[in-house]
Amino acid sequence: MASSPAPHAVLQLFPPPARERRLSGLYLGESLPEPAAGEAPFLYANFVTSMDGRIAVAGADGVSRLPAGLTNARDWRLFRELQAHADCLLTHGGYLRALVAGTLGNILQVGLAADGEDIASWRADREMTVQPAVAILSASLDFPLPASLAEHRQPVHVLTTAEAPRDRMAELRAAGCEVLCVGSGSRVRGREVAAVLEERAYRRIYLQTGPRMLETALRDRVLSRLYLTLSHRVVGGEQFDTILRGGPLGAAGTLRLRALYLDRPAKGEIGQFFASFEPG
Ligand SMILES: NC(=O)c1ccc[n+]([C@@H]2O[C@H](COP(=O)([O-])OP(=O)(O)OC[C@H]3O[C@@H](n4cnc5c(N)ncnc54)[C@H](OP(=O)(O)O)[C@@H]3O)[C@@H](O)[C@H]2O)c1
Repeated sequence: MASSPAPHAVLQLFPPPARERRLSGLYLGESLPEPAAGEAPFLYANFVTSMDGRIAVAGADGVSRLPAGLTNARDWRLFRELQAHADCLLTHGGYLRALVAGTLGNILQVGLAADGEDIASWRADREMTVQPAVAILSASLDFPLPASLAEHRQPVHVLTTAEAPRDRMAELRAAGCEVLCVGSGSRVRGREVAAVLEERAYRRIYLQTGPRMLETALRDRVLSRLYLTLSHRVVGGEQFDTILRGGPLGAAGTLRLRALYLDRPAKGEIGQFFASFEPG
């Protein structure tokens, strides 16, 4: 009788002692606190980066994209397991533009991708909503609203600034979104994002955003945990993004390692570390 392949394992390096852990379920089993009403929500983010700190590199057309091979099926699995914990996914106008342009895939629903049934049932077992709410950060409001949000009956909150175009605010409200002006100038601040989402009773908020939101979340000290996949490769490229954009963070940028796993490469593959940090 043919035996089924052994489940993929990663090596837990920290905290000690070192031991093998099954990859599937690793981040479903993470303990994410559920703050009580009135407490600050638990905001967590996840990035995949190369050894030289690139999360995206501009191509010859000037468009910034994830370098080929930076992500893989195992990192994708853990990204989706982290989604399972969320009451609310925080995304932004740039992502919705990339989605419609076809440069990024759909990450607005949880547990729908192939082999995601256990992620969907994990939420059901905990009596969570089938799909999380979605909050969209945008100063310009220049983004298309994906049809999948209405199809899956996800509450949509648009977080923008007082200077955003009024006609677009009206269009988004007519389309069923809640539009909130929670910032001024060209950016919404992390503290304001956390406050309005806490008021709406969201306890665990997954930042599926980019360097600008991470900057304000760290600076405003509202980020609770940072998950980082460090791919064992150097990418290069002159124009690139790192996990953070903006001025020096000082003490607000200090992080404490809470877990580190080694994903050893099979022949012809690239290894990676899965790490998580908390401010402090
Ligand atoms: N490797 C990874 O893990 C990873 C993760 C994330 C992103 N990336 C890549 O990195 C590159 C840059 O990231 P990005 O485009 O996602 O993010 P970004 O440059 O931080 O933000 C993009 C857009 O989001 C809105 N936004 C972000 N923060 C905001 C704030 N505080 N207030 C108001 N609006 C805000 C703005 O939209 P409006 O223009 O609509 O106002 C902004 O143009 C992209 O190529 C992306 O694919 C890689």
